[in-house]
Amino acid sequence: MESTIINGRAVADEVLASCATKISQGDVVPGLAVIIVGDNPASQVYVRNKVRACEKAGLHSEKYALSVDVSEVELLGKVAQLNADPAIHGILVQLPLPAHINEDKVLTAIAAHKDVDGFHPENIGRLVAGLPGLRPCTPAGCMVLLERAGVSLSGSRAVVIGRSNIVGKPMALMLINAGATVTVCNSKTPSLAATVQQADIVIAAVGRPRLITAEMIKSGATVIDVGINREDGGLVGDVDFESVRTVAGAITPVPGGVGPMTIAMLVSNTLQAAIA
Ligand code: GUN
Repeated sequence: MESTIINGRAVADEVLASCATKISQGDVVPGLAVIIVGDNPASQVYVRNKVRACEKAGLHSEKYALSVDVSEVELLGKVAQLNADPAIHGILVQLPLPAHINEDKVLTAIAAHKDVDGFHPENIGRLVAGLPGLRPCTPAGCMVLLERAGVSLSGSRAVVIGRSNIVGKPMALMLINAGATVTVCNSKTPSLAATVQQADIVIAAVGRPRLITAEMIKSGATVIDVGINREDGGLVGDVDFESVRTVAGAITPVPGGVGPMTIAMLVSNTLQAAIA
């Protein structure tokens, strides 16, 4: 079987265009502040892409590039200043932060209503409870892709590989809230292949290049690859795309799958925060 390739770039462009229309018709210009600490090359690329997408959609964006040795107090001061700034509706602190800074302390300091990453304990609690709130961008983007691909979640069996706070855990909660039966695995899960074999929906977010191979996939399953692994100057996902595409019903490529959706959902979240 040859699977449908889910075009994340096209869906992301639709989401961004819809946001741009709403922004041009509204009377508030949504404002996003992005803070980046240090010179992690991957983070720099992500932040550049985020700022560029915001500008394209008609958002106001501000970038604060802080030195790798900025103190925690100074960073918290910047967050407090942005919390109080009426032109800023969304605040994003790019992760990872240097080891001398307590990440949890910084994420919790962001006002929950400006937390466009959805990482604040209040927003995580809202997700657990199934209440409205700002949702983490990457899993929210995966949900939009599943919806656009016409995958029905209620009554399905989903396996999430990866248990991070950024993707795996919130992804599992979103699928649970949508009525799926969800199993969360990690790279050390015993009988990983047998577990993944059960899944109608596979979400790979574990950060291991090509961990998920064709033998692990049930025929016709939908496979969403969140992995972005750098290899020989290129990007590869957590899924062995070339083999899995012969078994899956639908699959996201890397690049051009989930990545563009993360950015589109950030714009969507900033708009949501501005009009709330
Ligand atoms: N680092 C990797 N992914 C993300 C993300 O979605 N948000 C933030 N703030 N940092 C990240």
